[in-house]
Amino acid sequence: PDYTITVEPGARGPEINEAMYGVFFEDINFGADGGLYPELVRNRSFEFLPADNAAYTGLTAWTPSSVGGGAGEASTVNDDARLNERNRTYLKLDLDNPAGGRFGVTNDGWNTGFAVERGKTYDFSVWARSDAAGGTPISVVAADAGGEAWAKPSALTARGDRWTRYSVPVKATRTTDRGRLAVLAGGTGTLRLDMVSLLPRDTYRGHGLRRDLAEKVAALEPGFVRFPGGCLVNTGSHEAYDAASDFPRARSYQWKDTVGPVETRATNTNFWGYNQSYGLGYYEYFQFSEDLGAMPLPVVPALVTGCGQNRATDDPELLQRHIQDTLDLIEFANGPVTSTWGKLRRDMGHPRPFGLTHVAVGNEENLPDAYFANFLKFREAIAAKYPGITVVSNSGPDDQGATFDSLWAKNRAAGVAMVDEHYYNSPAWFLGNNKRYDTYDRSGPKVFLGEYASLDNKLVNSLAEASYMTGLERNADVVRMASYAPLFANVDHVQWRPDLIWFDNDESWGSTSYQVQKLFMTNVGDRVVPSRATGRVIQPKPITGAVGLSTWATAAAYDDVRVTSPGGAVLFSDDFSDGAGQWTPVEPRGAWSVVDGAYRQIDTAALDTLVKAGNITATDYDLTLKATKQSG
Ligand code: AHR
Repeated sequence: PDYTITVEPGARGPEINEAMYGVFFEDINFGADGGLYPELVRNRSFEFLPADNAAYTGLTAWTPSSVGGGAGEASTVNDDARLNERNRTYLKLDLDNPAGGRFGVTNDGWNTGFAVERGKTYDFSVWARSDAAGGTPISVVAADAGGEAWAKPSALTARGDRWTRYSVPVKATRTTDRGRLAVLAGGTGTLRLDMVSLLPRDTYRGHGLRRDLAEKVAALEPGFVRFPGGCLVNTGSHEAYDAASDFPRARSYQWKDTVGPVETRATNTNFWGYNQSYGLGYYEYFQFSEDLGAMPLPVVPALVTGCGQNRATDDPELLQRHIQDTLDLIEFANGPVTSTWGKLRRDMGHPRPFGLTHVAVGNEENLPDAYFANFLKFREAIAAKYPGITVVSNSGPDDQGATFDSLWAKNRAAGVAMVDEHYYNSPAWFLGNNKRYDTYDRSGPKVFLGEYASLDNKLVNSLAEASYMTGLERNADVVRMASYAPLFANVDHVQWRPDLIWFDNDESWGSTSYQVQKLFMTNVGDRVVPSRATGRVIQPKPITGAVGLSTWATAAAYDDVRVTSPGGAVLFSDDFSDGAGQWTPVEPRGAWSVVDGAYRQIDTAALDTLVKAGNITATDYDLTLKATKQSG
């Protein structure tokens, strides 16, 4: 045999935490709006601002449009006529259609439109007010980018000059992933619109999340869900939304901004350079965790910003408010319905407590002294009121170094229960650091590996992660929880890669890292069985055939290159007829490597590296490579 695995008879290794493997959800790569939160209308509330992204205006994703010679003017306005103090900007349509015709705006959705499926129902709603005597007729027009209808138009009449919510179900008569939605109004006068929304009725467990994405997460059987960030939590201004001081943008993520009726959730700049609607907020995170059977693990800002912005608050009142917000968060999750925040949870539809047991304070702070001083204050206040809650600390942004050492020393000295570590590294690092936790202090704080990934979405990365995870599991007495990061990426809006699950308007697929995570996550053992492996070291084997792996990348010299499975199915091929040298994937799409916008990641370089390192052979990989040299 090539290998012998010897299990030590009677030996008992450490117990493995049932919730060892989880997921980390952050609204990055349009993971929330345009992703898990399935609102089909982008910028539904006209709140996009240059403060979110220099390219944004109140009309981002909207185009003025008309039918039947309709005329008017569309502008976004923030004045006293606003929907409410937390939802300031609205769309003002000055209509000029005395003799017929309709004027309004069309929404472009997320990825060249949005997806609708024949036979399914979508709930359209809008807040409106009209100063026209007798009201303003509104048509809701469902057509795709080419103008072809995907549903029958619906008609509403906005009556009265006070904000009223109107709604109508829209049943798709056709499937398209290039859907558009137009809201067109007739007559004259001023029509004000806000919260123009189109939501699919078919969602994961009926709880309002995009079904295919949520199901991909559910298939991992996560033990916990860490949310909402990441850098997203801890950066920007620490101020809360405050109507009196106008509308602070780029304020840190604060859970109270994200709960209650969606039209009262004050949108905010997202750290990753866009606007976040908070349609996916703390209630939805808790509900999703419950639906997954996973432990919710919220991260609250520590008032010391990391992620390249080294700044700590020196305002004790502000710090106290954030500490109080965290206590209120625990009450929101666990408190009786007679309590202030428990009542809100009930009013939102969940009288039973969510059973919160862990809260993490901060993310990747670079100022160890400032961070830790704040952490201790949070921990003290939480322990005094909720002694059963585990308060998770962290070790800064790196896998080692001065900040890391300093924070670990402080965490140890203060008897912290659990420390969040983060690192993104090369495959070689992961292969070389399998023993990282073998030497960790068994009596010190436990490790929560809240973010890690080998830095690409290629097969070699996934293999390195799998190898590394055996080291996590071997040290299950120290490493109690681990989550790959980030979780999601919308192919048209990528701020960070690698990512676990990729998607566009209507499709989603797991990377090879997803398959690795799934393998481990759905097979969590009860305890480690000490074992020893002996056997030969694999030596590099040259690939035989018409073309070597390293030549694939420059395969323009070939007429036809294909990769086939043992069964003969063509997995990837390129005839280079366009001269571009891009791989055309054949099903199963994305199963072999990361898929980006161009779907061209058969991972030549990584495979080549593996072959050269002797870790994999063409036979191991079970693929046949075939290429035909270009004539001439
Ligand atoms: O996962 C992406 C980012 O990586 C997170 O926001 C941050 O915590 C880390 O630096």
